[in-house]
Amino acid sequence: MNMEGALREQMVQLSKSLFDRGFSVGSAGNISAAVEDGLLITPTNSCLGFLDPARITKLDGNGNHVSGDKPSKEIFLHRAFYETRPQTGAVVHLHSTFATALSCLSDTDADDFIPPLTPYVVMRVGPVKLVPYVRPGDERAGDLIRELEGRYAAVLLANHGPVVTGRDLASAVYAAEELEETAKLLVLLRNSPKRMLTAENVDELRAVFGAY
Ligand code: 13P
Repeated sequence: MNMEGALREQMVQLSKSLFDRGFSVGSAGNISAAVEDGLLITPTNSCLGFLDPARITKLDGNGNHVSGDKPSKEIFLHRAFYETRPQTGAVVHLHSTFATALSCLSDTDADDFIPPLTPYVVMRVGPVKLVPYVRPGDERAGDLIRELEGRYAAVLLANHGPVVTGRDLASAVYAAEELEETAKLLVLLRNSPKRMLTAENVDELRAVFGAY
């Protein structure tokens, strides 16, 4: 199997894994991954639990449809990350419950939305920005991501859900899972005084494990 074929299979497997464990329900969520000559992205209205590798959408480097079904309506969002963060190999958008719950809160810090509660959210996700609401599929979502100029590997779309990137598909999926689990901890601890990692703790993690 060639590299693109293997990536299609991996996209099916990881998407099913997310679906089977409730990180995605119904036809919510979409996933893309960079290939040498363009982009693979899940088709619009597809269920992450039941993807067909042959029907995954392929776009060329200019965003033109090459093969497969009609692309996810969030293609603008995905392309904006590849454009502004050249290290991006994959993008995962979910409506996972706890991250989405946090995205609906009004009393939060939009610039540092997920505080450094545990080491892995620092190592795998990094700072998370809250992006203002636009309707699903609105092209302006791409503009909002481009305005960040590549500073964030992960964002939360207000009242909608997380978008998480990685160097490759597995890293992006693992980071999306990490973000969701951290969001769950933050909801569980919402009314308790919390001990966050210190700036020194965060610097040490970045020095030892690198920042994406
Ligand atoms: P698509 O089915 O077009 O990928 O959209 C699903 C979604 O999650 C919208 O935000």
